[in-house]
Amino acid sequence: MQIGIDQLAFYTPQTYLDLTDLAHARDEDPDKYRIGIGQSEQAVIPVTQDAVTLAANAASQIIDQDNRQQIAMVLFGTESGIDNSKSAAVYLKRLLNLPDNLRTVELKQACYGATAGLQFAHDYVLLHPDKQVLVIGSDIARYGLNTPGEVTQGGGAVAMTITADPRLLILDDASAFHSEDIMDFWRPLYRREALVDGRYSENVYIDFFKAVWQDYQGQTGRSIADFTAFAFHLPFTKMGLKGLRAILPEATAAQQETLMQNFEASRSYNRRVGNLYTGSLYLSLRSLFDNATLHTGQRIGLFSYGSGAEGEFLSGTISPEFDSKSSQQWFEHFFASRKQLSVAEYEAVFNRQLPAHDVLLDTSDDDARFVLKGIQHDQRQYLDRSKKAVTDQ
Ligand code: COA
Repeated sequence: MQIGIDQLAFYTPQTYLDLTDLAHARDEDPDKYRIGIGQSEQAVIPVTQDAVTLAANAASQIIDQDNRQQIAMVLFGTESGIDNSKSAAVYLKRLLNLPDNLRTVELKQACYGATAGLQFAHDYVLLHPDKQVLVIGSDIARYGLNTPGEVTQGGGAVAMTITADPRLLILDDASAFHSEDIMDFWRPLYRREALVDGRYSENVYIDFFKAVWQDYQGQTGRSIADFTAFAFHLPFTKMGLKGLRAILPEATAAQQETLMQNFEASRSYNRRVGNLYTGSLYLSLRSLFDNATLHTGQRIGLFSYGSGAEGEFLSGTISPEFDSKSSQQWFEHFFASRKQLSVAEYEAVFNRQLPAHDVLLDTSDDDARFVLKGIQHDQRQYLDRSKKAVTDQ
């Protein structure tokens, strides 16, 4: 049976920072950010969006009356959760008006969470081919103003439905994974910003990639010649380039050219949005789908990495029903209608954090369908503008 990604949607707010402006403000050469880091723009997330609303704004694009009753599980990958007890998935379930006969779970292993969800979803659909699983990767990447990681911030959500006979990517059964308890990036419960040992993290990322790539080849007998493209977890897009370069010498000159071209396609959206943590690999996959020329049956390799650390190499082939036109149009419109912020405006948004007490937020600057309206009795209050009513939580 063929199982994989049937739909893949993305959401991030329309406010962004041009990283040339940030470079000037931080007294850096803009080429360090544009070329050295591989980022041009960065999504700026207002206080009226959290991991749940970002996810709802992404998932509402692919959940409708046709598939709502078929959804059996919501697997929510995040490392910017809003509640230490309840899963973000169960909040999302109500915003999307999903049926009650549903499993709702949050998955955490840094940026790897959505991949765990994807694989659990694959195995569930194998046993229940008439069902669908909604997999989410939703995060806000915060390192802090004036830190080396600042240029690699961002945020947003991807939402995927995993089904039998998928219309985008048919997942292969084989995958290779590797985990070790290390401290390359972490966020203690009392902190809003992540702590990172950036250079160490880059080295571990490459080591894990090489280890799982070798393991995968041993399991399957496949080599780089079997792949049309690779999509990488992209905390910043230069990281994926470093990953690809680690194995590129295994390919012929002609294949190297194709792989490099497709890598450029796969980082086009991420370069303009920044880091989404759990969703980054899947935004890159979406970028590849929309910006490369792909044909049925071609094999794509995916490298997922979550600091701390877990790495997995998985693969899939392009579905016979593959079509990316409507997504291309969505992104064209999205990028054309974004609002650029000055560095001072970005800093003000960054510093405006949700207090640890009841509050009513001004949502007038946030045009999303789902927004966070405030906190009442220590419970987050969400607004679904399509209903014109507050959903009390
Ligand atoms: N033109 C072009 N490239 C330039 C440049 C210029 N003027 N100036 C510097 N560069 C290059 C450097 O050579 C370097 O390239 P390399 O990585 O290929 O060696 C790159 O830009 C970054 O420069 P560096 O001085 O190392 O930057 P930094 O000390 O500010 O830190 C990170 C960069 C990525 C380590 C830092 O942003 C970080 O820690 N980010 C978070 C990473 C993360 O999230 N990791 C965990 C998830 S995997």
